[in-house]
Amino acid sequence: MEFSEVVRKRRMVRHFTSDPIPANVITRIFDLVQRAPSAGFTQGQSFVVVTRPELKREIARFCTEEEYAETFQHPFISEAPVLAIPCTSESAYHQRYQEADKIDEEGQEIEWPVPFWFMDIGCSVMILLQAVVNEGLAAAFVGIPGKENNAGLKQLLNIPADCTPVGVIPIGHAATDIPSPSLKRGRKSQVEFLHFEKW
Ligand SMILES: Cc1cc2nc3c(=O)[nH]c(=O)nc-3n(C[C@H](O)[C@H](O)[C@H](O)COP(=O)(O)O)c2cc1C
Repeated sequence: MEFSEVVRKRRMVRHFTSDPIPANVITRIFDLVQRAPSAGFTQGQSFVVVTRPELKREIARFCTEEEYAETFQHPFISEAPVLAIPCTSESAYHQRYQEADKIDEEGQEIEWPVPFWFMDIGCSVMILLQAVVNEGLAAAFVGIPGKENNAGLKQLLNIPADCTPVGVIPIGHAATDIPSPSLKRGRKSQVEFLHFEKW
């Protein structure tokens, strides 16, 4: 598929068929995801891939799946054949930026311009969402609301203490879904979005 077609076709899909995804397709997708950039090549990004139905149901509970039912009509998290959980390790970045080539003249870790650990996992997630489309599949992204749900998900999946799951990505074959009400906001015009030379 042409890159521009992948980008234009990608959207959050919130209903999936029960068709499974072959393991080699998942491997192919994550080969691309691992090409994401990272600050200082820290590579603080990791993913957990889940296919077991009982685990998927428990993960969906931490994402408050039942609250989506009224709007989207389908349990689109637990029904997806694959759930990918993107995780980032802030401490990996602090460790990396204390190495000789990264410390400043006073031997100190840099003052972080922005939390690059979230920037990097965002890069990985974007490749994943696009690689999924490139395979003829579809995906969504849902947040994990509240600290308790985040801690519960971490425990359920044995995610190490220094890693933070940033959301859950259901992946599958698209079924007819209900578009998000948020889309009614419409896309910003390019004039609002893009600033040449100065804002
Ligand atoms: C950081 C982030 C958090 C999001 N959280 C949720 C969420 O919790 N639940 C959900 O259904 N969609 C969520 N979305 C999807 C957005 O609603 C969606 O990307 C947006 O409405 C644009 O639609 P599109 O991606 O289909 O073009 C999230 C997207 C991003 C990037």
